[in-house]
Amino acid sequence: MNNRITSRSILFSITSLLDYMEIDILDEITNHGRRVAYISLRIGERLGLSKDELFDLGRFAILHDIGGAKSISEQTNSLVDRTLLENYQSHCVYGQTIADFFPSLTNQHDIVLYHHENYDGSGFFGKKDDEIPLMSKLICMSDYLELRYFSKHSKYVPEQIISDLKQQSGILFNPSLVEILENLAREMTFWLDLDNANIDFAIHKHLPAVDDPLSTRDLFTIAEIISATIDSKSIFTNIHSKGLAEKALKVANFCKFSSVKTRQFHLAALLHDIGKLIVSTKILNKNGPLSPEEKNIIRQHVYYTEKTLILMGIDTNVVRWASNHHEKLNGTGYPKGLHAPELDFESRVLCALDVFQALTEDRPYRTAFPLDKAWDILDKMVMDNELDSEIVSIIKQIFS
Ligand SMILES: [Fe+2]
Ligand SMILES: [Fe+2]
Ligand SMILES: [Fe+2]
Repeated sequence: MNNRITSRSILFSITSLLDYMEIDILDEITNHGRRVAYISLRIGERLGLSKDELFDLGRFAILHDIGGAKSISEQTNSLVDRTLLENYQSHCVYGQTIADFFPSLTNQHDIVLYHHENYDGSGFFGKKDDEIPLMSKLICMSDYLELRYFSKHSKYVPEQIISDLKQQSGILFNPSLVEILENLAREMTFWLDLDNANIDFAIHKHLPAVDDPLSTRDLFTIAEIISATIDSKSIFTNIHSKGLAEKALKVANFCKFSSVKTRQFHLAALLHDIGKLIVSTKILNKNGPLSPEEKNIIRQHVYYTEKTLILMGIDTNVVRWASNHHEKLNGTGYPKGLHAPELDFESRVLCALDVFQALTEDRPYRTAFPLDKAWDILDKMVMDNELDSEIVSIIKQIFS
């Protein structure tokens, strides 16, 4: 069903999701994960790691701070920056529970959990050099360098980096790894690759092209993590994707979709709001009327759903159904303003189901509608030529 989806394509799309989260939490894209991955990969290459090991290293390095969003959400301090985030031990624990869901090629364990352990045992968990997995050590050292020298504007200061690293050799970092990094820091290419403008290209150069097509089971595991992440962004929509996906399966059954189409439709429902990750939590949780500008920002989420799913290499049917879920038959929907002839049956179903799911959930400004009120609203939308009457009657038959 998804022969273009590989671990690599999923990784790149997750990287862009992390960018969205960074904008939400830190107000800017820092490229921190990408740069840590680049530095780690360069050291890994010099250590002679295999292609699969390098892929795993790059993946864990990109994801190493993925637990940060949850750590931050537990804090009351609203002024958050990267350094503060790195100081919460919990970001290692949460990050590892997420990383555990991603199938590793070379059987690595606890890489994210131990990414702040130091050579002398002064890290969060008190692990010493030989107790720390190699990949965690590389990520830790790269993280240190990234935050001090590259996070804002990278200036070419190799001597400064080398003397700093020398001081930490045998304290924070393993001396033989420090030596490799000192040599890298002398390279002009190393600095240019780390520039914001070049870092994506640099990752493509150094992350091996392992082409393992993802199994359907792994794909759904990842889709469910992503969908739970989307839902958890807002206290008001915390069951939305899950609820829609359950309803989509019921409709697929009722309409006797083939098993392939049922899986595609289920996936489209799970991921339809993936673009909401770019919308700030402040707007999603706002308890009051939204300004026109805020409404516009929310509407943009469908564009980012399409972009992310295409980057993932997801099947074109899934992309189309997911990114049409706010398009109305009469052309008043968004983001493309498509009309009836351009909207296939499945796009129309997902749109109607999304409205139905939303009506039966609590919102900041109202509680969930009872069924008869929801049917009235759907009927009105049929009258206005927004929703398909045949589809609304199917929904009523299934969910009444
Ligand atoms: Fe970290
Ligand atoms: Fe980090
Ligand atoms: Fe949506």
